[in-house]
Amino acid sequence: MTLPLQRSVLLVLFMLTSSTIHAQTRSLTVTKRYLNLPVSQSQPRTALQLETSGRAKQSFNIRLARGKPDYWVFYDVSGLAGKTLKIRSDSNPEGLNQIYQDDQIHGQDSLYREKNRPQYHFTTRRGWINDPNGMIFYEGEYHLFYQHNPYEREWENMSWGHAVSKDMVHWEELPTALQPDEMGTMFSGSTVIDYENTAGFNRGNQPAMIAFFTVDTPEKQVQCMAYSLDKGRTWTKYDKNPLIDSKVKWNSKDTRDPRVFWYKPGRHWVMVLNERDGHSIYTSSNLKQWTFESHLTGFWECPDLFELPIDGDRNRTKWVMYGASTTYMIGTFDGKKFTPESGKHSYTHGTIYAAQTFANMPAGDPRRIQIGWGRVQQPGMPFNGMMLLPTELQLRTTRNGPRLFSLPVKETRQLFTPAGHWSSLNEMEATEKLKSIQSLDRFRFTTTLRLSHATSAGISLAGQKILDYDLNFNLLNGAFYSPEEMTSMEITADIFVDRTSIEVFVNGGHYSYSLERKPESGNQKGLEFWGNRIEVKDLTLYNVKSIWN
Ligand code: FRU
Repeated sequence: MTLPLQRSVLLVLFMLTSSTIHAQTRSLTVTKRYLNLPVSQSQPRTALQLETSGRAKQSFNIRLARGKPDYWVFYDVSGLAGKTLKIRSDSNPEGLNQIYQDDQIHGQDSLYREKNRPQYHFTTRRGWINDPNGMIFYEGEYHLFYQHNPYEREWENMSWGHAVSKDMVHWEELPTALQPDEMGTMFSGSTVIDYENTAGFNRGNQPAMIAFFTVDTPEKQVQCMAYSLDKGRTWTKYDKNPLIDSKVKWNSKDTRDPRVFWYKPGRHWVMVLNERDGHSIYTSSNLKQWTFESHLTGFWECPDLFELPIDGDRNRTKWVMYGASTTYMIGTFDGKKFTPESGKHSYTHGTIYAAQTFANMPAGDPRRIQIGWGRVQQPGMPFNGMMLLPTELQLRTTRNGPRLFSLPVKETRQLFTPAGHWSSLNEMEATEKLKSIQSLDRFRFTTTLRLSHATSAGISLAGQKILDYDLNFNLLNGAFYSPEEMTSMEITADIFVDRTSIEVFVNGGHYSYSLERKPESGNQKGLEFWGNRIEVKDLTLYNVKSIWN
């Protein structure tokens, strides 16, 4: 039984809580394009819910700032003009009150000109990126989807961000393609164009772009699909998802990152899927029902599998399989099983991870082009991570058999203008020439070094060894490297430096690596060659344009 006094205490308590709840919900009529949201890294992550009539409730985790924000992120409300939007945060009314709508994102004025914004690599306007996803060429556009947290510069709320480009160099960011839903968050995957309408999603002459992705929950990872009839701008998730749920079979949560492609000789679809300890092959005729065919252990995450000519000869091909680290095997593939003949090999190392290659390349362009995630911190920026330069992968014959080579695609050449060329210099003379580089903000140079009196030599930038070649231990910036000419005392390097990253391609693409560029931290030394009595056989400098002009 409740006494009168207790009853009134309860009533007051109820009023207090209901007014608190009221204070934690904001209602607004959408009149602008973006909601600008304040973020503070010192706040805990809490759920922000967005509700509007006729649309499923959206929810994501955000460190909503209470006082002065560290930076601002945004939520695109352009599709909701005129509607009433209810925004709710159960724990942070102060942060809620700072949210405002505008036609520009907060910080638009300095967008792409921020202090540490890479100037010739893709980065996102706001938030975190990791793996490239769904890379495909379609009707004049290269599509780059990517693992994205739009609401913080760290990993969370996995969605598919989306950018398009005509040349793989200049990118335009579009609204988020796949958002988390009641099934879970959107992990990595791939896309195809269903020209023959095998899945039945096409409309008239418009073939569907179909995305395959992993939905992640704390319990398990399942494979799902969605389709788009407007060149990847808007997506409909398949109503009978998931397509594959293999947790029980593998007794593991790690089943993810579907890579789907059409296998012409067998006229069927192939999915390479990482399951626990390796890559599985599934096949399908309609992209909806999948049959397990085989499994190859020794790979982790983010599969890719493709056929390449050897030395450009279309009559002599091999298949290449890799996982997230990019270490690869070479072998044969019959549409159901990949049989390795050699490997694992390594053609690159450093910040690269989870690289993918473009599907559906334009007619007459058989190149296999890869973009890798650069695990590079962007200090103090409202965004984080980056994509490395697009590179063409080729199989070329070496003394050890065919091996992968990679070099930046020819489309990147538009970025570089020659700014000086010299040959036969000693290290002091060469260091002097490097001083003519206009700005150390971003630059490129190629050089061939010849060693004679010492076992190691290289180049440093503000004290950081950006080339460190040791032919005694056969180490190139820490990884084993033996040149094709094993008695060679020379190394050729093509070095691409941006504000926060360094990519180096040695000996014509035989090997490459990428580094985070260390902040200068008062180091007065610029760019210099080091090593005892080395000959700089040639040196070519380039100025580099920004892609954001
Ligand atoms: C690789 C990865 C993928 C996964 C995604 C999640 O970096 O772990 O396996 O799908 O990132 O963001």
